[in-house]
Amino acid sequence: MLKAIPDNSVALTVTSPPYCMGKEYESGSDVTDFVVAHNAILPEIVRITRPGGSICWQVGYHVRENNLTPLDYIVFDVMKRFCEDVVLRNRIIWTFGHGRHGYNRFSGRHELILWFTKGDDYYFNLDAVRVPQKYPGKRATRGPKKGEFSGNPFGKNPSDVWDIPNVKAKHIEKTEHPCQFPVAIPQRLIRALSQKDDIIFDPFAGSASTGVAALLENRRFLGAELNERYCEIARRRLFDATNGDAKVRPLEQDVHVPSPNSAVAKRPDHFWAQRPT
Ligand SMILES: C[S@@+](CC[C@H](N)C(=O)[O-])C[C@H]1O[C@@H](n2cnc3c(N)ncnc32)[C@H](O)[C@@H]1O
Repeated sequence: MLKAIPDNSVALTVTSPPYCMGKEYESGSDVTDFVVAHNAILPEIVRITRPGGSICWQVGYHVRENNLTPLDYIVFDVMKRFCEDVVLRNRIIWTFGHGRHGYNRFSGRHELILWFTKGDDYYFNLDAVRVPQKYPGKRATRGPKKGEFSGNPFGKNPSDVWDIPNVKAKHIEKTEHPCQFPVAIPQRLIRALSQKDDIIFDPFAGSASTGVAALLENRRFLGAELNERYCEIARRRLFDATNGDAKVRPLEQDVHVPSPNSAVAKRPDHFWAQRPT
């Protein structure tokens, strides 16, 4: 499919490839498989990206026998070795509150998004993705603007650390797909890095979270997915998004903080009483 896409035709790619850990949707089971696959795919992705366009690669860690390999290092290395004119703009930390608890290491609560651009003259619309300031009512205390609000009225830069809940069992976006990322991730990237009617591509589309975000933001979507069952899920989600029925956790929704008055948020008296030193 990739070979059939013309040069310089895609504005933005947002994807999360298989981590090659032998899961049901993965053909590879080794880091070497990840390297080989990326040697083949990344130069093609760069070829189809238009000058000034962006490539966002969301990865975590390959884990084998409690031994971690950070996959973003591999993606960065392959890009640098095989793809001229590609520049890394951000290494975004995606952090989330839930997941398995570690018992022999710290619990993993982040993954990465590498944002590359094709060339130096690239599209970036910061105003489209600003977030509320901590103190929006703050005013300048001196200088010619004394007394005026000091913050940008559209909000502040969302930074390169994004706290967005991952798609677990009770998440509104959860489908049968075992490894979805939340629509909010591609949605923020699409708002910042592309314009209306642009083509957004996901070569490992899964349940089409990137596609849902693209349609919600009035962009066009092109995706590839090998597994027929996931394609069915993707089609249904894209259809719902087209009809205004997408089930999506809004990008603007704050991360839930439990009320200190809720019974389960209170610490039982005997907890931590005899913490081992
Ligand atoms: C990590 S998942 C992507 C999940 C997606 N971001 C979502 O939110 O649903 C990777 C997907 O790539 C698919 N896949 C693996 N190899 C592929 C290939 N060669 N071409 C297309 N899709 C592939 C898998 O079936 C899997 O659904």
